[in-house]
Amino acid sequence: FFAKKEFKLLKGKTVVITAGPTREKIDPVRFISNHSSGKMGYSIAEEARKQGARVVLISGPVQIPAPTGIDLVKVESAEDMYNACIEVFDKADIVIKTAAVADYRPKFAYNEKVKKQPGGTTLELERTKDILFELGQRKKNQLLIGFAAETNNVDEYARKKLLTKNANMIVANNVKAEGAGFGTDTNIVTLYKRDGSIVELPLMSKADVAGKIIEEIAALLKDLEK
Ligand code: CTP
Ligand code: CA
Repeated sequence: FFAKKEFKLLKGKTVVITAGPTREKIDPVRFISNHSSGKMGYSIAEEARKQGARVVLISGPVQIPAPTGIDLVKVESAEDMYNACIEVFDKADIVIKTAAVADYRPKFAYNEKVKKQPGGTTLELERTKDILFELGQRKKNQLLIGFAAETNNVDEYARKKLLTKNANMIVANNVKAEGAGFGTDTNIVTLYKRDGSIVELPLMSKADVAGKIIEEIAALLKDLEK
C-alpha cells in the first residue's frame, strides 16, 4: 500500500494574476472598455491556489464572485492596475497578465457629465502604460507570462510580443475563433516559449486551459531553478 502523496506544483510561490478589462473614464457616467469577462484570469487564479500558491488577483470590473483563499485587489483603470502590479512585483515569483488592459484613455476626464451638442464630436485619447512591458524591464527572477489577443497573424504577433515585452511565455488566442476569446467558457490557445517552442492546445474549458498553463509555468520554474 502506497499512500498517495499530495503534490502541489506551486507550493510556496507567490503568483500575481491580472484579470478582466480596465475602464478608462470619460466623465462620471461614461468610460472606454472592452469585452473581457475575466473568466480566463479567474480560472488561472483558482488553479494556482489549488497548486499551493499564494495568489494575488488584480482584477478590473467583472461579474465573477470573489474567489476564496485569494487576495483580491479590485482596480478600475490601467493606471490603477499598473500601480497595483508595481506594489506587489518585488514579492512575486510569477506574474500572469491575463487582463485586457485598455491601450488608450481619454486625455481629459471630465468631472461633470458632458452635454451633447449639435453635430459630431471627437474624443482625444492618449496611451496608457504598457504594464507587461514595464514589468519586463524591471524583471529580476520573476517568471513573466503575457497573453496575446489577436484576430489575425496570431503566430507573428505572439512571437513579437514575447520578445518586445521580455516575457517568458505568451499565451496567444485568436479571439475570432469559434469557442475562443471573450466571454466564452472555453478557449483555444497556443503557448509561445523563449526557446522557440510552441504548445498548441485544442478547444478546452478555461479551467483546463488554466491547468495546462500552470503546468507549463511549473516546468519553466524548474528550468529556472536548475
Ligand atoms: N498589456 C499590458 N498593458 C497594456 C496593454 C497590454 O500589460 N497597456 C498586456 C496584456 O495584459 C497582455 C499583453 O500585454 O498580457 C498583450 O496584450 P495585447 O492587447 O494582446 O497586446 P498589446 O501589446 O496591447 O498590442 P496590441 O493591442 O496592439 O495587439
Ligand atoms: Ca492591447
